[in-house]
Amino acid sequence: MSYDTGALRAAEFPWAPRGEALFLDHASTGPLPQRTRNVIADAGARRAEPFRLRAEDFFPVLERARERAGRLIGAPAGSIALVTNTSHGVNIAARTLPYGVGDVVLSTAGEFPANVYPWMAATRARGAEFRMLPLAGHLPDEAAIMRAIESDARVKGVALSWVSYWSGHRFDLAAIGAACRKRGIWLFVDAIQGVGAVELDVVAAQVDILACGAQKWLCSPWGTGFCYVRPELITQLEPAEVGWMAQPATADFRAFLDYDASWFDDARRFEVVTLDFVNFGAMAESIGLFLELGVRDVAAHVASFAAQASAFVAANPAITLLTPAEPSRRAGVLALRPPDLDAASQRLHDAKVFHSVREGCVRLAPHFYNTPAELGRALELIAAS
Ligand SMILES: Cc1ncc(COP(=O)(O)O)c(C=O)c1O
Repeated sequence: MSYDTGALRAAEFPWAPRGEALFLDHASTGPLPQRTRNVIADAGARRAEPFRLRAEDFFPVLERARERAGRLIGAPAGSIALVTNTSHGVNIAARTLPYGVGDVVLSTAGEFPANVYPWMAATRARGAEFRMLPLAGHLPDEAAIMRAIESDARVKGVALSWVSYWSGHRFDLAAIGAACRKRGIWLFVDAIQGVGAVELDVVAAQVDILACGAQKWLCSPWGTGFCYVRPELITQLEPAEVGWMAQPATADFRAFLDYDASWFDDARRFEVVTLDFVNFGAMAESIGLFLELGVRDVAAHVASFAAQASAFVAANPAITLLTPAEPSRRAGVLALRPPDLDAASQRLHDAKVFHSVREGCVRLAPHFYNTPAELGRALELIAAS
């Protein structure tokens, strides 16, 4: 690991070393780094007294947010639409990607509702089927998914969460993307539980559309996120929700009335403005921290926690780690099943260790500034029945 966690904590998360709380719940809501808090305070002060706002407080902020979000996943800024949450991006995919009567959109059981309900609604509206293949044990049945992609002619697209919100299972996107491309069908990915914790190259993985809220692993404000649309696909997709700046015709604010409904050729065609300039500036600032530290180094740090949890459960067999053992199949979410779930959660709660309980497991989600000692403390509390 090449960055100094102590310096990072001192500069960006000064509350962490004070020990008031041990926050291991980044799969729910990420904290805002100090640099991001500063941006919000500065830009927020100008927003409160709008005569203080400068030209650079508006559209250059959004451009920076698109550019940095793109850089994070190996994509050009023009392929990024800013969205207010993951669900908005899921809806863009569900309502614009091609499929019709009798077609199947393939997914798996165990998905977070944000990647279920928009598909149920959109497939119902088009007379298509949203098919969630059963789990194999507690994990997605990847072999069955691959078989359906390769051999079921009705399958026209695949919609999956890259990383599971509860088990922490991570799909091999490159394998699924390659299989989809070979069949000429599309791949949609909900990436909110992965981006910021693991490296991703959307081009190499051949993802068609990816949605990612920034409020968790990207330590950004609520109401911020992004949606990647594969550049070659953008001009083939007709936005279902229509913003008033999705068209070049709106660029001249002194003359709005020469309406021309032609879309932008880039992903701005999917944006519905007015967006929150302050909070997207904050998102750009938080993503900037990840880019500065290096996504690879952040990912290595996060991966070390899974290794630590694996070693701990090996020595504490009463606790089951439901997160896959194979490092390439996990990210930052750790799902632990102790024999006394409620009591274990209460012990964590009493010790001010922030965590979640999901689907019968304690979910720990340590991030890039946490320490092995912090995770160790949480694991000991879980085991202390
Ligand atoms: C896999 C997954 N998708 C989406 C979300 C949240 O969606 P949104 O950003 O629309 O609130 C979560 C939050 O828990 C999640 O775990």
